[in-house]
Amino acid sequence: MRTAICPGSFDPITLGHLNIIRRTARIFDKVVVLVMYNASKPSPMFTLEERVDQIGRVVARFGNVTVEAHDGLLAEYARKFDEPVIVKGLRASTDFENEFQMAQINKSINPALETMFLTSSEKYTFLSSSMVRELASYGADLSEFVPFEVIEEVERKARQRGR
Ligand code: PNS
Repeated sequence: MRTAICPGSFDPITLGHLNIIRRTARIFDKVVVLVMYNASKPSPMFTLEERVDQIGRVVARFGNVTVEAHDGLLAEYARKFDEPVIVKGLRASTDFENEFQMAQINKSINPALETMFLTSSEKYTFLSSSMVRELASYGADLSEFVPFEVIEEVERKARQRGR
């Protein structure tokens, strides 16, 4: 049984993330969506628990996808699997340098860990959680960018936070 880990900060989950999760779930027997802190993105919009809850609702449509949170190192989390594989989406060359660096560091901590990349669908190459947060702060329509299960929560939180 081969399990893939799809890690990310998912603050909030976007349709681009969902596209990568869906495609990973077709390739692997099981997928764990792992919600984590990104040290370079302080002051998240949602807590880890809120994000796990949101993603849980979104991935309920898949039979082989579960959600967990981990507030430590990704490479340490992956030790619970025999042959751990991380799957991430690559949107553009701007993602590549950072992702390449993370993959190398993760492998140096846990040599059993492999990282694979799926190229993002053309439709979502421009899409990011930070863009969603910005659009939400202006009260824009999010239906093209965010799974319908979480739109209301993102809108509500954006109203509370203001611009
Ligand atoms: O969706 P993101 O923000 O691009 O995901 C980045 C994330 C959360 C996967 C990355 O920051 C991460 O792995 N954080 C956990 C801590 C860790 O293992 N850091 C070392 C990687 S260099």
